[in-house]
Amino acid sequence: MSASREMALNTLVPNFEISELNRPIDLRKVLKTDNIIVDFGSGMGTHAIALAHNNPKIGVLAIDVHTVGLIAIAETATDLDLKNIRTHEGDGIDVIKSWLLPESVQEVHVLFPDPWPKVRHHKRRLINHSFLEMVFTVLQPGGRMIFATDDESYFAAAKIAFLQFGRFRMNFEDWDIPLTTYHQRAKRLEHKISQLSARKA
Ligand SMILES: C[S@@+](CC[C@H](N)C(=O)[O-])C[C@H]1O[C@@H](n2cnc3c(N)ncnc32)[C@H](O)[C@@H]1O
Repeated sequence: MSASREMALNTLVPNFEISELNRPIDLRKVLKTDNIIVDFGSGMGTHAIALAHNNPKIGVLAIDVHTVGLIAIAETATDLDLKNIRTHEGDGIDVIKSWLLPESVQEVHVLFPDPWPKVRHHKRRLINHSFLEMVFTVLQPGGRMIFATDDESYFAAAKIAFLQFGRFRMNFEDWDIPLTTYHQRAKRLEHKISQLSARKA
C-alpha cells in the first residue's frame, strides 16, 4: 500500500467507521435523515459516493471486507465535505444481522455481489433465505432491497430464493440508482445484466 493510502487508512477512514457506535445502531439518528441506504459490498465505493453526493437528504452506509474502496470513500467524502456517509470494514452480514436497529433502513443495495460461479461454491453466495430474513428485518415498511448481477445462474437462483421467501413485493423494472464499477464494466463487456427490487409491504 502506498504511503498516502496508508495515511488515509489511519487518519481518514476512522472518521467514517461505525464499529465504535453503541448498538443497536440507528443510522437515522447518526446521519440525521430517515432515508438510509446500505451499500452491501461497496467495492470501489463509486456507487456509495454518488448516492451521498447526489442527494444530501440520503444517508449512506458502505460496507466492504476490503479497505481499498473504503479509503477512496473516506478521501472523496473528506474532499467533498460529505456529512451523510459512513463506512464499515468487515463482514456486512454481522452489521445487517445484529448491529442495525430493526426497521431503520430504507434500502439495501446488493449490487454485483461475488457470483461464485462454480457449482461447488454456490453455497457461498450471499443471497439465500437467511440473508433475506435479515434484510427484511432491518428494512422499514415500504423499504426495498435491490439486487443486480451479470451472472445468469446467480440471478435465477436468487429469484427463486426471493419468491420462496415470499414476503417481498418484487419488481424487475424499478431501476433508478447510480451505476457501480462492476455495473459499468458489465455494460462495457456487453454482459446480460439482471436486476430486481424487492419491497417490504
Ligand atoms: C464483485 S464486487 C462488487 C462491488 C460493487 N458492489 C460493484 O458493483 O462494483 C463484490 C464486493 O463485495 C465484497 N464482499 C463480499 N462479501 C462481503 C461481505 N460478507 N461483507 C461485505 N462485503 C463483502 C467484496 O469485497 C467485493 O468488494
